[in-house]
Amino acid sequence: MNVLVTGGAGYIGSICAEELLDAGHAVTVYDNLTEGHRSAVDARAKFILGRPEVDGDILNAVKSSRADAIMHFAAFALVGESMTNPKKYFHNNFVNALKLADAAVECGVKKFVFSSTCATYGPPDKVPMAEDTPQRPINPYGESKLMFEKALLWYQQIYKLEFIAFRYFNAAGASGKFGEHHRTESHLIPNVLFVALGEKPEREIYGTD
Ligand SMILES: NC(=O)c1ccc[n+]([C@@H]2O[C@H](COP(=O)([O-])OP(=O)(O)OC[C@H]3O[C@@H](n4cnc5c(N)ncnc54)[C@H](O)[C@@H]3O)[C@@H](O)[C@H]2O)c1
Repeated sequence: MNVLVTGGAGYIGSICAEELLDAGHAVTVYDNLTEGHRSAVDARAKFILGRPEVDGDILNAVKSSRADAIMHFAAFALVGESMTNPKKYFHNNFVNALKLADAAVECGVKKFVFSSTCATYGPPDKVPMAEDTPQRPINPYGESKLMFEKALLWYQQIYKLEFIAFRYFNAAGASGKFGEHHRTESHLIPNVLFVALGEKPEREIYGTD
């Protein structure tokens, strides 16, 4: 398949692109490098330096990739920042994502994988949580992702754009080539590892359980 990977210069997207290429698929990476790294784009992939704010840029990327499927990882993902700058999150994680879904429909793409988040759930009534635990986000990051999930449900029903949303908690690990290299690291696992490496003095553990 031809697969368009948005955010393919970031952590999860870069490794996903590598896995797709290893499995024999053709990959186009679309990334604006606001958070990702050009060196994290697999050399076998075609790279488009995205300018999602420019009219038609996302549509042109979908057209030129001749995508059979889109895997959408491009987003801003700092929960704390979303509480002080919500418009940044709604515009990128919802408005730009909607442009991508529209382009998918216009170009006849049939399959869409959305990198959503556990933050769409909010505090659960009971644990362990199930996939159908009610989604009640408590920050703009989670809300922006849930809004796009809801749009995709309608696009699936009406435009027949098949989709699946992955709601990860803490992604962890690395491939031989690529790994986690956020400019601002908010995730637990790399921050714990920084302490183990002596690069940071300590890591606060939240909660009492
Ligand atoms: N890392 C995790 O544990 C985790 C957990 C839950 C959900 N997620 C979600 O998975 C996705 C990937 O996470 P990650 O940790 O790899 O993040 P990341 O920041 O490493 O990767 C995101 C990439 O998207 C690019 N990008 C952002 N907005 C863009 C746009 N409008 N157009 C083009 N490129 C754009 C960035 O430059 C970056 O390379 C995100 O959508 C995030 O919300 C991640």
